[in-house]
Amino acid sequence: MPKSTEWAVEAHGLVKVFGDNRAVDGVDLSVRTGTVYGVLGPNGAGKTTTIRMLATLLKPDGGDATIFGHDIRREPQIVRQLIGVTGQYASVDETLSATENLVLFSRLNGLSRADSRRKSAELLEEFGLTEAAKRPLKNFSGGMRRRLDLAASLISQPPLIFLDEPTTGLDPRTRSQMWDTIRRLVATGSTVLLTTQYLDEADQLADRIAVIDRGIVVAEGTATELKNSVGSASLLLKLADAANLQRARLAILDVLGVESVLTPEAGRITAPMSDPDTVTDLLLRLREEGIAVAELSVQQPTLDEVFLALTGHSATEEEAADAAKAAAAGGPERELEDAR
Ligand SMILES: Nc1ncnc2c1ncn2[C@@H]1O[C@H](COP(=O)(O)OP(=O)(O)OP(=O)(O)O)[C@@H](O)[C@H]1O
Ligand SMILES: [Mg+2]
Repeated sequence: MPKSTEWAVEAHGLVKVFGDNRAVDGVDLSVRTGTVYGVLGPNGAGKTTTIRMLATLLKPDGGDATIFGHDIRREPQIVRQLIGVTGQYASVDETLSATENLVLFSRLNGLSRADSRRKSAELLEEFGLTEAAKRPLKNFSGGMRRRLDLAASLISQPPLIFLDEPTTGLDPRTRSQMWDTIRRLVATGSTVLLTTQYLDEADQLADRIAVIDRGIVVAEGTATELKNSVGSASLLLKLADAANLQRARLAILDVLGVESVLTPEAGRITAPMSDPDTVTDLLLRLREEGIAVAELSVQQPTLDEVFLALTGHSATEEEAADAAKAAAAGGPERELEDAR
């Protein structure tokens, strides 16, 4: 039975050290019951390690946490009854078919034989797995496994569900299907803590977001708060000829007085803007210099830009090296006051 109904997760100063690697280095998290909480960070940030500690699968080296008021160290068996972790399910039985797995899982959750069959058929239909229902799990693709995994979590539907990168590597249609399912889980009473490397995913699903980088929470708040912390508007510029990128960045620095950023998509630049009116001046300057523009927009900052502003490096791996260099050269560093 949940002891605390207000907070699904309360963690203070969680630490996990592997050798001399402080994988999680003092993480605080508060997840309100009935919400989706997003933990956003690049590869190796410490997301999975944090979830494993909260799910009692890994012993913390420091700090403490409660799940619905139950201490993860002192009451692990109660905590385990209140949570579901995706990824567990796939290891049930590789030789059984999708249907057999779901039926087995339903039976383990106390459903009758008839109810188990009905529930399994319904879920397979909903997740577009009906055709593959008779195939053994070992022949499933990564995307099919994830869908089956999430389907299984709908059977037991524990009060708190940990989803570790539920949509990494999925095609866009399957992703939005997963998003719908996650929303449904919350609409029907579950609390979801999900990790993601996708900024738009956190933006779409999460009520609150913690941005985690190298084992540390570097920012926490709603998507809007995080975006506001970066600036009111963001300029997105795409050049007709990528060869002009550096010259365009110089023009931006000169006219707008801000450093711009190359996005992972080739030939695009973004820059923070305080006054959208200055865009006219910039366009005139670019024309003077003979730099043709293919696309230009002024929008709310993306979470990608938020990440960059908060950590001094992009959320994408490729740019991590550049970021390290920028940091060594005294790159941008930003303090965000705790939004709580
Ligand atoms: N069992 C382990 N033994 C040693 N080091 C580990 C172990 N698990 C994780 N690490 C290290 O801890 C750090 C954080 O890893 P973690 O898996 O938590 O990151 P993540 O944010 O989940 O990354 P990803 O997005 O790639 O899944 C990494 O440097 C990783 O190499
Ligand atoms: Mg991980």
